[in-house]
Amino acid sequence: MSLYRNYDIQPLQGEMLTMYIDGHTVPAAPGETVLSVLSAVGLRRLSRNDNQQLAGSYCGMGVCYCCLVRIDGRYKRRACQTLVRSGMTVETVSNRLNTQGLR
Ligand code: FES
Repeated sequence: MSLYRNYDIQPLQGEMLTMYIDGHTVPAAPGETVLSVLSAVGLRRLSRNDNQQLAGSYCGMGVCYCCLVRIDGRYKRRACQTLVRSGMTVETVSNRLNTQGLR
């Protein structure tokens, strides 16, 4: 199953890599951030904080911590500060307190 990059500002060019967002296969360009890919596929609700509130990206430059996602099994990674890698797995709206039954 795939997510489609319907919201790119301009067509992607050059070599592509494959990453996985919430179990969906998504193409990405080397050098772009995880937030760029999430925005391109139309995902806006990215994180759920410890108080169960949903949040989406705000600053896009690493300051607000509103874009926290789970990347390769690690929670609370900033999507806007992480460059994509081939085979990377990203989970949105993921919170360790919920996943591990700590709540
Ligand atoms: S969008 Fe603000 S830290 Fe990522």
